[in-house]
Amino acid sequence: MSDNTAAFDDPFETFDAWLKEAEAEELNDPTAVALATATKDGFPSVRMVLLKGADSRGFVFYTNLGSRKGGELAENPNAALLFHWKSLRRQIRIEGAVTPVSEEEADEYFASRPRTSRIGAWASKQSQEMEGRFEFEAQIAHYTAHFGIGDIPRPDFWSGFRLKPRYFEFWRDRKFRLHERKTYRIAEDGGHWLTAELYP
Ligand SMILES: Cc1cc2nc3c(=O)[nH]c(=O)nc-3n(C[C@H](O)[C@H](O)[C@H](O)COP(=O)(O)O)c2cc1C
Repeated sequence: MSDNTAAFDDPFETFDAWLKEAEAEELNDPTAVALATATKDGFPSVRMVLLKGADSRGFVFYTNLGSRKGGELAENPNAALLFHWKSLRRQIRIEGAVTPVSEEEADEYFASRPRTSRIGAWASKQSQEMEGRFEFEAQIAHYTAHFGIGDIPRPDFWSGFRLKPRYFEFWRDRKFRLHERKTYRIAEDGGHWLTAELYP
């Protein structure tokens, strides 16, 4: 996409191109993304996660299903993602509903994680209150001994979600705050994207 064109490309292709640039430029964690969820009554919450997959099926992240975000996604699948790459002065907003990834997909990703991260997943009751750090460390020691040098399967309380976009916004910095905003909204028939430019 050149600097002066208002051409609309495929949003997934634009996402890939921007992510590649971010991977080259960002100081760390180019795949870090803010994930907003909400209760069924519409009370929102937001936190960072790492993007672990992106293609035309959607955007994948992994987490503890018993966490706050896990609970909110179980009662309300609507969610939003926000990438902000400071080095590029760009942001991408993505909105849609999540569905759980398949058991096989979650198993495959879990198996690719470092051993200590897999033990950490077993040991962490993510988002629950703990008495103190010692409690967590005792759980880590417990699962380290429990699994020994054997296989560490994925806990059934740990998996991934895929957010299928129905809306994208690509925001680029321009001089004097005259920024560029290009949006893509999925048409009612689901077959194509309706595009627009927004005032900055
Ligand atoms: C850069 C970054 C990446 C993170 N990636 C993840 C992730 O992929 N999955 C996850 O569950 N938590 C991740 N976290 C921690 C979450 O932000 C959050 O603290 C945790 O998931 C609990 O959120 P919840 O109580 O809203 O469920 C990350 C935090 C940061 C700062």
